[in-house]
Amino acid sequence: MAKILVTGGAGFIGSHVCKYLAAHAYEVVVYDNLSTGHREMVRWGAFEHGDVRDDARLRSVLRKHKPDALIHFASSISVGESVQDPGAYYDNNVLGSLRIMQVLAQEGVRPLVASGSAAVYGLPESVPVAETARTAPINPYGRTKLVMEWMLEDFARAHGLPWMVLRYFNAAGADPEGETGESHDPETHLIPNVLKAVRFPKERQVALFGDDYPTADGTCIRDYIHVMDLASAHVLACEHLLQGKASQSVNLGTGHGFSVREIVDAAERVTGRKVPYVIKARRDGDPARLVADPSKARELLGWQTRYSDIETILRTAWAWEQKKVQ
Ligand SMILES: NC(=O)c1ccc[n+]([C@@H]2O[C@H](COP(=O)([O-])OP(=O)(O)OC[C@H]3O[C@@H](n4cnc5c(N)ncnc54)[C@H](O)[C@@H]3O)[C@@H](O)[C@H]2O)c1
Repeated sequence: MAKILVTGGAGFIGSHVCKYLAAHAYEVVVYDNLSTGHREMVRWGAFEHGDVRDDARLRSVLRKHKPDALIHFASSISVGESVQDPGAYYDNNVLGSLRIMQVLAQEGVRPLVASGSAAVYGLPESVPVAETARTAPINPYGRTKLVMEWMLEDFARAHGLPWMVLRYFNAAGADPEGETGESHDPETHLIPNVLKAVRFPKERQVALFGDDYPTADGTCIRDYIHVMDLASAHVLACEHLLQGKASQSVNLGTGHGFSVREIVDAAERVTGRKVPYVIKARRDGDPARLVADPSKARELLGWQTRYSDIETILRTAWAWEQKKVQ
């Protein structure tokens, strides 16, 4: 049974991947500093408290558990916050990733699957966006993700480190069995904020940023991918690398976009309630359309989505939202 060390496994995507790994006969060890994650979401393996920038701690955990591969989610994730405090983002995301690569180079390289982001594409020239599109991130968050990719290429060349970066578009939804879900504070993602507004209509309206984009209904279009479909891709990526196959970056999305207004409509259908919202000005750096070309993930990894229709995304996210203690 292969053993996987999951950095950031106490977070939204990481906890789903841990559940999926455990269900597919992998042994899981979570390494997390709980800065934004939740101890109660570590339910599918051992827990080691630690920061990815702490190379001594990381080395001792690696020596103790001897994982066959690593999946690296630990990072700061908010575009807006990265613009306000770029130093914190370069520190956590770039230095954190660098420390992992250095410790692996010293302790013995093994496959590293890491969270990338569609933010590396910046304002794409056309959609759907394939991996061959120009990378030109327009904010510190996206830049930290691209620097991580460059470092991986360099460590692969110098030390033979096998790697795969999975560039997620918009991660959404929750575990269909309701054991884990998305709990960010503050929450910046559209779907949980829409559902929170449905749940607490007197206290909050969800802000929709911009209704004058060159799209059919004027709102931005994004590609929403269910977090359990992300989970299966991570396991396929580990298997790909454990079989000695080539290192590369791969998009994870559905290839189908939904506008912000379409998400609001779908949320009203699924919950049977009105979404209280307010239209605000555009945010800087939001592309009108961001939709993946996911052909490479399908062809290279044999990846297929099971949960990423918009109804399932909203239904599972709504079930999770209603379980949250506010
Ligand atoms: N959520 C999305 O839509 C999305 C889209 C693209 C990429 N990503 C990437 O996916 C990854 C996971 O995102 P998420 O939404 O699950 O975020 P999250 O905040 O829920 O999870 C991140 C986890 O990493 C931990 N962590 C952060 N810094 C750490 C450090 N220095 N050392 C140890 N642990 C640390 C946190 O405590 C948390 O448990 C991130 O790398 C993010 O950039 C997310």
